[in-house]
Amino acid sequence: MVRRGEKAVTSPPPRQAPPAPLKPEDDVRLRDLPVLRQIYDELGTVVSLAEQVHRLSERLETTGAEVAEARAPSRETPEARTVEEAPAPAEPVPSASPQTAEEPPDVDEEAVYVLYRRAYAFVEEVMLAAREGRPFSVDVAFAIISRIVGTEGATDLLYKRAIYARESEGESHGFSAAVITHSVNVCIYALRIGEGMGFDQHNLVDLGVAALLHDIGMTRLPDALIEKKGKFTDQEMAEMRRHPQYGYEILARLGQQYRWLADIALQEQEREDGSGYPRGLRGEQIHEYARVVAVADFFAGLTRSRPDRRGMMPYEAVKFIIQNQRALFNQRVLKFLLAKLSAFPLRSYVKLNSGAIGRVVETFEAHTMRPTVEILYDSQGRRVRNVQTINLREMPILHITEVIPEEDLPGRR
Ligand SMILES: [Fe+2]
Repeated sequence: MVRRGEKAVTSPPPRQAPPAPLKPEDDVRLRDLPVLRQIYDELGTVVSLAEQVHRLSERLETTGAEVAEARAPSRETPEARTVEEAPAPAEPVPSASPQTAEEPPDVDEEAVYVLYRRAYAFVEEVMLAAREGRPFSVDVAFAIISRIVGTEGATDLLYKRAIYARESEGESHGFSAAVITHSVNVCIYALRIGEGMGFDQHNLVDLGVAALLHDIGMTRLPDALIEKKGKFTDQEMAEMRRHPQYGYEILARLGQQYRWLADIALQEQEREDGSGYPRGLRGEQIHEYARVVAVADFFAGLTRSRPDRRGMMPYEAVKFIIQNQRALFNQRVLKFLLAKLSAFPLRSYVKLNSGAIGRVVETFEAHTMRPTVEILYDSQGRRVRNVQTINLREMPILHITEVIPEEDLPGRR
């Protein structure tokens, strides 16, 4: 919120003739100056966005408390879960306090990015096998996700990697690169939400593997349909909507031990209000992992950057989901989507309205659009000598206009 005249007056103003009061037409003239007008408009947009996200956060806090007791995620099908319930995981509640800050821990960035590439290679391999009807194992996925879950700060870095993932057009050794990238990204977003929900390591690994494989049914669809740009015909849409069932059939071949994986692939398009497919399940009928994957999947779709157009920024996507799609998703999952995925990723590069480029070094849950940023390049794209750190919460005139992939930093293109 921009508060004017907040500064305390410490000394009496110098004696001089008081300025003539501004007339309404002066104000109009000021607003008509293009630069000032732009600043007015941008500030207005940012301030109202910030307020809306904050209000939504508070509303979710309330409804989150009303949601029935947190259920422990289980490998069992929803029907079976009613018989055997595991103890509920501890639930850290995201605080709306501006003091809740997140700073990057020390992590071996390259080692974590290797895990991203390994997850990508795994999905690529199993999707190819599924397409060709060959058997495959999912053991490697458990090993990769265990490493991610066991490395402190890994999902932070991977979140950044996923948000910036650039999709190359076409195939990746025989299957759509876009579907593979999407699967890995959904896995990362699901892990972030699962962490927020208090899943233990074991449950996080299961959730991550399920997310990696949730779209494996796409391998049974024709390439032309997967790659199609523009609107689907009714017939194409009907075919597309078969992919959860195809995924179930493919994963069911892994045997009873992995039946839960097949169930999640089957349920990832089910929606809380019963409007999803293929079975129109609602609420508690949907496996908890499938509820998380559904939200992560939707978020990934909105933030996805295609070669020809930029996806939504994280907070834009979260706001869109909460404002427009709220009834479709579990409220508790949405609460942690907001807490874990609405901020700009730590260490990510962002451009300010001044033209300067900086790196996010600290984020605040209650001020997701106003992190602390180290300014690295000036508005001309020159590397600054003395790095200045700006807390955007204290600089209302400045705001972030876009995220910049590392390879697009000045001098790297
Ligand atoms: Fe899907």
